[in-house]
Amino acid sequence: MSEKLSTLIRERRSVRKYDPSVKIEKEEILQMLEVATKAPSTSNLQPWEFLVFVDPEERKDLRTIAYNQEQIETASAVVAVLGDKEFYKNVEPVYESMVEAGFIDAATKEVLIGNANKTYPYASEEAMKNMATFDAGLAAMQFMLIAKDRGYGTGTMGGFDKVKFSERFHLADRYFPIVLIAIGKENAQSYQTTRLPIKDKVKFI
Ligand SMILES: Cc1cc2nc3c(=O)[nH]c(=O)nc-3n(C[C@H](O)[C@H](O)[C@H](O)COP(=O)(O)O)c2cc1C
Repeated sequence: MSEKLSTLIRERRSVRKYDPSVKIEKEEILQMLEVATKAPSTSNLQPWEFLVFVDPEERKDLRTIAYNQEQIETASAVVAVLGDKEFYKNVEPVYESMVEAGFIDAATKEVLIGNANKTYPYASEEAMKNMATFDAGLAAMQFMLIAKDRGYGTGTMGGFDKVKFSERFHLADRYFPIVLIAIGKENAQSYQTTRLPIKDKVKFI
């Protein structure tokens, strides 16, 4: 592992105090998400969407929904990571773009679509949500490390009312909220955390 990657991972921590005067351009957030979503996903069906909160008015309501966590309003932005429980509906654009890029041929595309259509539409909602949650989590983690690399702090929040969130921000039925990620400039050091010994968590068999 490179020194740089190791330092980024070791020094990331959840930031809860932000400098409220710092703005991050939408374009920069988009670029970070573009790289973050190079994450792997189930059949490459990319079961994630992101609702990026920059507007102060919208964030007042979001703060209430997130049990008054102050970083909702003081961070430069809050990225809501959404899962897509009907991600098999992405088959056509996903596999067609791989054909257009010259990575697969048209026959392979049809095989991939056939495989996806044989499986995912028959999976339970719970299974679909689990797959989407895991995949979106991979992208979310990459986003946090990319943000750290660019000098920003981030903080994941699972503490919010997911039903109220879906209602207030009019999520279509196929999408569900997973976490909120605050992003901005840290203005007071958060406490550090430890991890249990890795040897207690790993078994080689
Ligand atoms: C899914 C998830 C939900 C979390 N929810 C909250 C939250 O609602 N509020 C908060 O302040 N921190 C929240 N955290 C941050 C954790 O408390 C934090 O990651 C953990 O204590 C380890 O600290 P570190 O991130 O600084 O390494 C959450 C983290 C995860 C992964």
